[in-house]
Amino acid sequence: MTATVETINATPTNGGASASLLELRNVTQIFSSGPFWNRDHNYAVNDVSFTLSEKPALITAVAGESGSGKTTLGRIMLGFQRPTLGQVLYMGNDVGAMNSQERKQYRRQVQAIFQDPFSVYNPFYKVDHIFTVAIARYRLASSGDEARHMIEEAISGVGLRPSETLGRYPHQLSGGQRQRVMVARSLLLKPQVIIADEPVSMVDASLRATILETLRTLNHELGIAILYITHDLTTAYQVADNIMIMYRGHVVEAGDVENVINDPKHPYTRLLVQSIPMPDPNRRWADMQGINTPPFSGIDVTQQMCPFVNRCPDALSECTQDVPNIYELDEHRISKCFLYENAGTVSNVDIASYFNIRGSSSNSNGTDVEL
Ligand SMILES: Nc1ncnc2c1ncn2[C@@H]1O[C@H](COP(=O)(O)OP(=O)(O)OP(=O)(O)O)[C@@H](O)[C@H]1O
Ligand code: SF4
Ligand SMILES: [Mg+2]
Repeated sequence: MTATVETINATPTNGGASASLLELRNVTQIFSSGPFWNRDHNYAVNDVSFTLSEKPALITAVAGESGSGKTTLGRIMLGFQRPTLGQVLYMGNDVGAMNSQERKQYRRQVQAIFQDPFSVYNPFYKVDHIFTVAIARYRLASSGDEARHMIEEAISGVGLRPSETLGRYPHQLSGGQRQRVMVARSLLLKPQVIIADEPVSMVDASLRATILETLRTLNHELGIAILYITHDLTTAYQVADNIMIMYRGHVVEAGDVENVINDPKHPYTRLLVQSIPMPDPNRRWADMQGINTPPFSGIDVTQQMCPFVNRCPDALSECTQDVPNIYELDEHRISKCFLYENAGTVSNVDIASYFNIRGSSSNSNGTDVEL
């Protein structure tokens, strides 16, 4: 694919073999609410550092129950939300300090796919509109014919027929078709990163597999790095190389997706995996509502404790006295839990430095997951 960062210096920031595309450094997002004498501070994202690399471009899943901070993390990476603390770097440049031209390129190269594609469309315009606006905004084509060709190519690239898609209004497409049109729009812009926030949670099972397969193709064949945000461990297992498990803004466990799901280490991840109807990750795990178990204890969890302490079956006395560090369990796994304090502590770690690098062009998890 053509990288078209005219105005952004490509300065890798994390060294090593993999060039950094999009990097979070100690990012914290605090939402405050309530009267000034009794402000409530909600840490939606809590000191998260990780990098999406350019080479190799991987698929990274972010999973966790509702309210764990997944969407906030994605919005920060998209530049929609400026974090309270920490930095976001795109190819080494601080997103918060970009000028308008740099920001325009960043917006082009870091694309979003949302849960509800319908909300993105203007119902009064035919679907063609979202393509023509993008082409005009970024001056992608020099003639109408060229624009038409580009649009048709992008639509075909996601498995839709241009003749059955263009010229229609959004409500004349199925939910799955609408979602694929959004993927096609991203494809048209030739992004380097796609942040896909629950992209298949509102489409039926038959289309889910197609959309996930499209994401895999974009990653494997075009080298687009993908952040796949999901409630569903099954699809994460199917599509991703690595996974980060979030709980109340913290990344509590991360690493190779197969290892994390087949052998979860953090008590919260264990709870998630146990909520799969059968103890088999190939079984569909569609809904995390079941893991919203009531707290075991009446502990009023503060920022000075493990965030999971009031629900943790393994809690130790120290879990109410401090926030656990990040511990290195092996070369492809970290966990933020005192159970592993005998393992090496890693501070200010870029979580992605523990990710497994996919060696071949195919995902070793295969496609035999029941969707
Ligand atoms: N704009 C906002 N203002 C105040 N609080 C917010 C805002 N956006 C999110 N939050 C809060 O931040 C926390 C994380 O929300 P977020 O939407 O990131 O969670 P999520 O993991 O994406 O959840 P879901 O799975 O339900 O989509 C929640 O407690 C939420 O209420
Ligand atoms: S740090 Fe303590 S409370 Fe938190 S998950 Fe680990 S054992 Fe449970
Ligand atoms: Mg969300």
